[in-house]
Amino acid sequence: MKEKILNELKKVFYPGKTSSVVKEGIIKDIIIDGTKAIIKIETAEQNQAVVDMLKKSIPIAAKTVNGIENVELEIKRVEEVKEKVSNIRYVIATTSGKGGVGKSTVSVNLAIALSKLNFKVGLLDADIYGPNIPTMMGIEGMPVKLDPDHKEKILPIEKYNIKIISIGNMIPKDAAVIWRGALINKAIEQFLNDVTWGDLDFLVVDLPPGTGDAQITLAQKTKVSGGIIVITPQNVALSDAMKANDFFKKLNIPVLGVIENMSYFICPKCGAKTDIFSHGGGKKFSVEYSLPFLGEIPIDVEVREGGDTGKPIVAVNPDSPVSKSFEDAARNIIEKVKILNNE
Ligand SMILES: Nc1ncnc2c1ncn2[C@@H]1O[C@H](COP(=O)(O)OP(=O)(O)OP(=O)(O)O)[C@@H](O)[C@H]1O
Ligand SMILES: [Mg+2]
Repeated sequence: MKEKILNELKKVFYPGKTSSVVKEGIIKDIIIDGTKAIIKIETAEQNQAVVDMLKKSIPIAAKTVNGIENVELEIKRVEEVKEKVSNIRYVIATTSGKGGVGKSTVSVNLAIALSKLNFKVGLLDADIYGPNIPTMMGIEGMPVKLDPDHKEKILPIEKYNIKIISIGNMIPKDAAVIWRGALINKAIEQFLNDVTWGDLDFLVVDLPPGTGDAQITLAQKTKVSGGIIVITPQNVALSDAMKANDFFKKLNIPVLGVIENMSYFICPKCGAKTDIFSHGGGKKFSVEYSLPFLGEIPIDVEVREGGDTGKPIVAVNPDSPVSKSFEDAARNIIEKVKILNNE
């Protein structure tokens, strides 16, 4: 009798889907009591209209079986178990007080430096208004794809051994992004939860400059292991960096330290060092705020060209002095992250 009912239920489509209620796995038990069938179903369905349709269609189908006159439906509403597809050990975020100090450049090259030190690394472009990561990583115009193995998840794009997500790979280039805060929140939440990151040691998040929605959402939606403040050595940039530091504090994001970018210039011809922007401001700032100093990155034309052409210097010229300085900073970050997480 049970078999017969089950066979009939295999013909009942789950509302809105192309598979049957049996295939959808909602039929948990069928108990026969004389001419009565008790059918137990379990569903995480949020839509009441769908549940109402099931309440009608399932008894009708069961009653077509000879000998069944009565059908009792027991519906158990369960909470949807979200599939856990990612396991990210450390989320680290770069920020700055003001724009254009090289946050994205630092994020990209740090991510690659970490990967060269044998860590699994992802890169999340949280700059929804001005996503630079696709250009810098050379993945401009490559659309993201849906993950065939996990329903409703997105696959990150892989380049230089880094898994990358950016809004720039989801909307046409140059499309004006005029989004309200709520949408920024949603986008960042989705980048964290609806992307098949897989197992990562580090997820590097490139935040937009300043103290905005992206920072707040990131802090709300995930545990950030540490923030990195990128500064240039000029005094103006330093006062902005103080704001970034205070903001991280307010959001309860521990600050890993400070990176001074465009710190000094090494003459490619003679090798002499020139302090274009009064080198050392970053160190002074970190001492004043009792923050670790993570490293200094020289100003170098190869860094800018690499950014413009999608060939990050750490990936394409790993033995250059600039790449070494990124690698040193990456080592310092690893050390600080471990200390902050009591490892
Ligand atoms: N160390 C460096 N040497 C030479 N050029 C650099 C260096 N760091 C960054 N740049 C260049 O400076 C410009 C700004 O850098 P980047 O886009 O990384 O800054 P940002 O802080 O992310 O800016 P935004 O606030 O617009 O997001 C880019 O053209 C980049 O190539
Ligand atoms: Mg940027």
